[in-house]
Amino acid sequence: MIGISPLLCQEGSADLRTQLLEATELNILEAARLLRDGKVVAFPTETVYGLGANALNVQAVQGIFDAKQRPADNPLIIHIAQTSQAQDLCRWTESAQMLADAFWPGPLTLVLHKKAVVPEIVTAGLSSVAIRMPGHSVALQLIQAANLPIAAPSANSSGRPSPTTAQHVLEDMQGRIPLILDGGSCEVGIESTVLDIRGDVATILRPGGVTPDQIAFIIGECRVADTVMRPLRPGEPALSPGMRHRHYAPKSRLVLVEGGELAVARTISQAYDAVPGTRIMAMHKHLPLYGNRLVDDLGPDAGTAAQRLFYLLRAYDEQDAVQIFSETLPPTGLGLAVMNRLARAAKFDIIHAGV
Ligand code: TXA
Ligand code: MG
Repeated sequence: MIGISPLLCQEGSADLRTQLLEATELNILEAARLLRDGKVVAFPTETVYGLGANALNVQAVQGIFDAKQRPADNPLIIHIAQTSQAQDLCRWTESAQMLADAFWPGPLTLVLHKKAVVPEIVTAGLSSVAIRMPGHSVALQLIQAANLPIAAPSANSSGRPSPTTAQHVLEDMQGRIPLILDGGSCEVGIESTVLDIRGDVATILRPGGVTPDQIAFIIGECRVADTVMRPLRPGEPALSPGMRHRHYAPKSRLVLVEGGELAVARTISQAYDAVPGTRIMAMHKHLPLYGNRLVDDLGPDAGTAAQRLFYLLRAYDEQDAVQIFSETLPPTGLGLAVMNRLARAAKFDIIHAGV
């Protein structure tokens, strides 16, 4: 470890010492060495921080499930740095190539038929595998230096909002993993689009940074699974196992209010006035509608809302918010991904305020 300057070293509850290191070239090499050694390392991507391990090493991947306390039936995304790596892991297709050319490196995960080399633990026993090339120089350098495909879920404890800063990762992973690479705040702020391209029509299982229209523009057609905006019915099979699990949930109740701008602001303001400790999330242009109440600004558009959402949800946990009321966004473009996360975080608790 000579030459590595820890920004922060703290003891965890377990006996492992977690180092939080700036993502310098030297520290990236150290992280790559740990990955080759079968260890679990957290690293930044353009979407959220990932918790990586050698995708071809069953014990290493088990380390991810242990650190996150992730249910074993929820498969992982494999991260690569070159398209040729994907061809080794799955049955590569023409649409896969077109989508990779258009969006990789970037926030698009492709679900394809897996090859036998991918261990069952990565895909939770499914015959498919999810693959993406992250659009972040640190992630790409790390994968390249390790010279391995890297299985990586978001680096939060299972059920908590995904981490968009290295500090968030430390909150959840302290004492559980040896190293967190700090690459600053994540640019997109919510996880990648998960797109199943095995069938005749490509289907979005989880909306994210690449929108349905962008995908349709490249391959002609793109469907959005209807479970993206509603809870699963009891016993209904999940297209993407992640949808079965509780997700993004803050500790306090989160309520979404939809309807006309004025009606929404009135309903939320009433809740704020009635219950001290209520927090509000609203779009920037609506701030004047809330008078001098304290409002957390989601910014001017869905892009800024995506960047701030998980950050705010984590802050509410820290601050012991009593309840949270949020505006909704039009579920189009990136707004669909933001609404998917908000609706799940709210456990589909949505009030209609009128027009
Ligand atoms: O942006 C991202 O995708 C981040 C960064 C770290 O790359 N990763 C991420 O991983 O969000 P995770 O594990 O938190 O979410 C992966 C989602 C889960 O909902 C999982 O069920 C789904 O992808 N998934 C993985 N493999 C799948 C497969 N073979 N078929 C269907 N869904 C799959
Ligand atoms: Mg996750």
